[in-house]
Amino acid sequence: MTTTDQPTAQSGARHEIPSYLDPNNIGPYEIYLEQVDRVTPYLGKLAYWVETLKRPKRILVVDVPVHLDDGTVAHFEGYRVQHNTSRGPAKGGVRYHQDVTLSEVMALSAWMTIKNAAVNLPYGGGKGGIRLDPRKYSQGELERVTRRYTTEIGLIIGPEKDIPAPDVNTGPQTMAWMMDTYSMNVGRTATGVVTGKPVSLGGSLGRADATGRGVFVTGAEAMSKLGMPLEGARIAVQGFGNVGEAAARIFHQHGAKIVAIQDVTGTVYSAAGIDPGKALAHLKQTGRITGLEGTEEVQKDEFWSVDCDVLIPAALEKQITLQNADKIKAKLVVEGANGPTIPAADDLLAQKGVTVVPDVLANAGGVSVSYFEWVQDFSSFFWTEDEINARLDRIMREAFQSLWDVKEKHGVTLRTAVYIVACTRVLEARALRGLYP
Ligand SMILES: NC(=O)c1ccc[n+]([C@@H]2O[C@H](COP(=O)([O-])OP(=O)(O)OC[C@H]3O[C@@H](n4cnc5c(N)ncnc54)[C@H](O)[C@@H]3O)[C@@H](O)[C@H]2O)c1
Repeated sequence: MTTTDQPTAQSGARHEIPSYLDPNNIGPYEIYLEQVDRVTPYLGKLAYWVETLKRPKRILVVDVPVHLDDGTVAHFEGYRVQHNTSRGPAKGGVRYHQDVTLSEVMALSAWMTIKNAAVNLPYGGGKGGIRLDPRKYSQGELERVTRRYTTEIGLIIGPEKDIPAPDVNTGPQTMAWMMDTYSMNVGRTATGVVTGKPVSLGGSLGRADATGRGVFVTGAEAMSKLGMPLEGARIAVQGFGNVGEAAARIFHQHGAKIVAIQDVTGTVYSAAGIDPGKALAHLKQTGRITGLEGTEEVQKDEFWSVDCDVLIPAALEKQITLQNADKIKAKLVVEGANGPTIPAADDLLAQKGVTVVPDVLANAGGVSVSYFEWVQDFSSFFWTEDEINARLDRIMREAFQSLWDVKEKHGVTLRTAVYIVACTRVLEARALRGLYP
């Protein structure tokens, strides 16, 4: 009997919660587990292997001690989780945030497995994080944290093993420090160990905007399927960082109207439309999104009931909940952030007829250009920005089309369709490789 012919022994079986998570408060990983449960009935014989998807392959928790500028020593909790490596090395970002938990990093690493498989990149899924609020530390302190963290996780990362990238509150400078630290430790310049580096250090053109660009491409594809014109479409964006700002800017460039922006500092609204370039300049100058000329400030919770056609959550997870899903007026939600919608709210949106382009498809543009960066680093041959954008657009468009077809075929949501395709690809690889030893 070949491995793919195995009976569906475990299909439908409920998962056990690993001892290192609190069963009464599982955290973000519970969202992912529920998503896997939902897709299991569609996996056929491959459901035999489904537990593989529910357990991260490897978890490393590290202590990160550093000298602070005031002469004291601080200790930070750091994580690197490799969720799955059946289809290739682990790949995924590193987040600096005061609320980072193991469960969150596990969920983010699992979503990377799904995302990479959904757009057919030759990667598994990984993610890292450090539990700290970067706003409270100097550049020098953050550099020391980054270097020590990189050394601690150096045991398991590497260009052919696990390739970190930026996520919330990390960026090209963080990646430059990580690349340098890893290179010093292995005794050679290893540009391919991280992606999202500055272009002058083996980074790729187009990487900075890639996630936002992918949000735009998949959002525009969905609008075309739904018969929604791009010109004049009203867009509300939560999060105005790497993803949200680029998505807003590119939608604006294509004739859409950004009517609301929310970030950690507040929420602004303008029925006439906000110029994202002016919003960014204002944010840089004042440190706040509020007070932007031509906009009115609205309460945090009112963001969700803003009159708009497309809603782009591009900040953090668990933002669309049962408390606000009912208020959403948009016909289309394009998830720039990872895990912004809890499953119950997802169901509510589906019942309301709202189409959701799920995170694991909508924000895959970033990792797609990270893949290009990794390939360019290996060959030390760099492509033009036009080539990169054309390849990115093609990957995102083709993935969207084929996943939309699966959604139509099974009569399921786009999220379930993406999970069907991605889980099938990961478990096919698992089944073909078999269990070692
Ligand atoms: N950067 C990437 O390439 C990439 C790729 C895929 C997915 N993502 C996901 O996109 C999301 C945003 O990542 P990013 O890289 O843009 O981060 P970022 O740090 O550049 O920006 C985060 C934005 O969210 C806002 N924000 C934070 N807390 C908020 C709150 N409570 N309410 C409203 N706004 C809040 C911040 O003010 C900021 O504007 C994350 O979920 C991340 O995992 C990022």
